[in-house]
Amino acid sequence: MDFNIIRIARVVMNVTDLDRSRAFYVDALGFVETERDEDHLYLRGLEEHVHHSLVLKKSEKPGIQAMAYKVMEEQHLDQLYTFFKDKGMRPKWMDQGCQRGIGRTLRVQDPSGLPLEFFAEMEGVERMLQRYDLYRGARIQRIDHVNCMVQDVEAAQSFYMNELGFRCSEYTATEDDRVWAAWLHRKPTVHDHAFMNGVGPRLHHVGFSLSDPMSVIHCCDVLAAKGYAHAIERGPGRHGLSNAFFLYLRDPDGNRIELYTGDYLTSDPDFKPIRWDLNDPRRATFWGHAAPDSWFNEASVVLDVHTGEELPTSEPVLQQRKPDFVT
Ligand SMILES: [Fe+2]
Repeated sequence: MDFNIIRIARVVMNVTDLDRSRAFYVDALGFVETERDEDHLYLRGLEEHVHHSLVLKKSEKPGIQAMAYKVMEEQHLDQLYTFFKDKGMRPKWMDQGCQRGIGRTLRVQDPSGLPLEFFAEMEGVERMLQRYDLYRGARIQRIDHVNCMVQDVEAAQSFYMNELGFRCSEYTATEDDRVWAAWLHRKPTVHDHAFMNGVGPRLHHVGFSLSDPMSVIHCCDVLAAKGYAHAIERGPGRHGLSNAFFLYLRDPDGNRIELYTGDYLTSDPDFKPIRWDLNDPRRATFWGHAAPDSWFNEASVVLDVHTGEELPTSEPVLQQRKPDFVT
């Protein structure tokens, strides 16, 4: 493999009302607003030294435009272009200048239908980590991962691991050893990209890293005080899988955001993927209330990188069911 993917680095999502989204993401959750124009809001976490990790784009309908990975060198973009082209995947260079703060970007629909993006350069900005005087809401630190529902987790896992060089930290398997969900990483934490068996392709959530559990609790108070208590969908609680302390929120357009803290290092080559049984109740919820039906059934649609149209979804290859302990 002659390219080196570093980490998940940004998500570009359509929203229907930028002011309404700004009130939620900036005023309530505490994202830093790097830049805004008529159609875009560019947001970052306090730890991030680059222009943005979340782009909200004004649109008539919500939908996910891209989930982006940063690569080590500019030339790796060309190598990725050739790699995807040779596989008949129709990669596409984005027009330069239509996006702020970012260099050359390459987009492609992955084999599951997810809109992937790659870039090497992003404009540097002031890192706000020690501007404690500006901390607000959840004190968002940085983007951590995306979690996607796909029809065929085993196929997605195989492509990301064998073709793109991801490694697996944890996975969920059925009684007959079919992979139900997989947590894959390039950066040395539990994941950059998780796949779950479900109606897909859809983005289930974007995870943002927080420094500590009290930031999650404090965010709940701030959300309630600002009239957003209804935005809390699940948690707070702790996952068995990944060990993260978590909270799931729904933004004003229904996109799901996870506040996430407390996972662990996965850098060692002899780290062995952790297997969880689908029916182990401690897998998804080590402690905390059971996930509501909406968490299992609802997710964000993704868009075609060429047409911008919503991609149709299909039922998963493994029969959809809730784990036994939930029913
Ligand atoms: Fe997550």
